[in-house]
Amino acid sequence: MAATPRQQAAVITGAASGIGRALAQALAAQGYALALADIDAEALETARAALAHNGASVVAVPTDICDARQIAHLCDESFRQLGRVDLLFNNAGVLATGRCWELPPEVFDHVMRVNLWSVLHALRCFVPRMAAQGSGHIVNVASMAGLAVGPWLAPYTLSKQAVVALSEGLALELQAAGLPLGVSVVCPGPVATGIAAGLDQGGPQEVLQMNGALRGGIAAGMTPDAVARCILDGVRAGRFWILPHEQAAHAALARAQGIAAGSAPSFAFPD
Ligand SMILES: NC(=O)c1ccc[n+]([C@@H]2O[C@H](COP(=O)([O-])OP(=O)(O)OC[C@H]3O[C@@H](n4cnc5c(N)ncnc54)[C@H](O)[C@@H]3O)[C@@H](O)[C@H]2O)c1
Repeated sequence: MAATPRQQAAVITGAASGIGRALAQALAAQGYALALADIDAEALETARAALAHNGASVVAVPTDICDARQIAHLCDESFRQLGRVDLLFNNAGVLATGRCWELPPEVFDHVMRVNLWSVLHALRCFVPRMAAQGSGHIVNVASMAGLAVGPWLAPYTLSKQAVVALSEGLALELQAAGLPLGVSVVCPGPVATGIAAGLDQGGPQEVLQMNGALRGGIAAGMTPDAVARCILDGVRAGRFWILPHEQAAHAALARAQGIAAGSAPSFAFPD
């Protein structure tokens, strides 16, 4: 179904599952027209069909966000089919664990391409066009790992710390350029999605323990619907930092205090 002339519109990457799909449902309920992107074309079509069935204006654009040309295509299709883009959610992401000196460079490369470079590709395409339409808001989904550093998560942590830094720089640069766009960065703790499903079954004992802890924490985490509500409330309030879990603020503070005190990093698995 096509967007109606004055309908607000949103683009969401990683919209086939988890937080992205919950954002799509919440935004559709608020009357937004949507462009949904995901590498999993089949799951994306399922998500699109379910929303369309409930009367939403929604298009699916299968996209591998590692590929800058596919993101340019997503941007073109979004503006062509929705007419405008009020909200851009750079949400798709992947997780990998292992000892940083043992993980193959290809793993770092893939995680950085999905979690970080894709955000830069999207900014290059969307910022000029959203600025030209006179308003808009960009939401980058980072993680609590973007604020605090834990072990055996190096590719993920590098990518999410970089997304946080990129978002801070983006907000400052938009302001300096006088461009009418808002920015938020989301730093959730555990959310009950399938993101940990593909973690390795083999490897050193401490990494297996970490994978088990991650799977357990994520399974018991906040629901994607609750996180989506928190994100949309934050965007509506114009907040830059959106921290759905209180523990993320505590972790950021503890890290900053450790740095100021000159303390070395420390970690213990919870009992
Ligand atoms: N689940 C958590 O505990 C948690 C915590 C903090 C941050 N996050 C972040 O939230 C975001 C959403 O994750 P989620 O938990 O909903 O996970 P998810 O696995 O349910 O959803 C991620 C989606 O991204 C898609 N995707 C992966 N690679 C892609 C690619 N190359 N191109 C396009 N799409 C691709 C997947 O197909 C999937 O549909 C991620 O950025 C993640 O890092 C999640």
